[in-house]
Amino acid sequence: MNVKSMTTNIAASVNAFAAIVLLFAAPINFNIMLNKKIESALNEQIALEHESSQYYLSMASWAEVKGYHGITKFLYLQSDEERAHMLKLFHYINERGGHALVPDAKIPPKSFQTIQEIFEQVLKHEIKVSGEINELVDMCQKEKDYTTNNFLQWYVAEQIDEERTARNILDKLALIGSDKGGLYLFDNELGAMPGKK
Ligand code: FEO
Repeated sequence: MNVKSMTTNIAASVNAFAAIVLLFAAPINFNIMLNKKIESALNEQIALEHESSQYYLSMASWAEVKGYHGITKFLYLQSDEERAHMLKLFHYINERGGHALVPDAKIPPKSFQTIQEIFEQVLKHEIKVSGEINELVDMCQKEKDYTTNNFLQWYVAEQIDEERTARNILDKLALIGSDKGGLYLFDNELGAMPGKK
């Protein structure tokens, strides 16, 4: 081997070594990227959870002004829970390589006619949320995103629970009717209900 070919071989070895070093030095994205369609749908769900939180906050404030202390406490806790649902989505999207976005704030209604109306609105809203979660699950299955499908099962179970709670409350309010003593006891009972978070 002459000096020229030796030099060529050494240069080739150095280049190969440099390529290996560069390969390992390059930042590796360990995130398995979230499908853009799923990411966008999850961001829409963030907006809906945020809307739920604001809605219940407005109901809580109205109930507080009217002096329903137990109902107020229940609704403030509900508002906190909805915010926790929203944050759970934030963390999931970002941990999966997507970008969770702060939604535009939709102004909720400021006043309500009755406690009955409030819980009718709660049930109606939760049924809407359940429908959206089901749509998301359906999309995940069609897109073969089994990880997000698995993540969303928590929300599926939560929605069953929230709809059941709202229905039970409406059943009690129907029994109470216009009985003020009954409403007083109901207010106390709701105030004693523990939050889930
Ligand atoms: Fe988180 Fe009740 O929707």
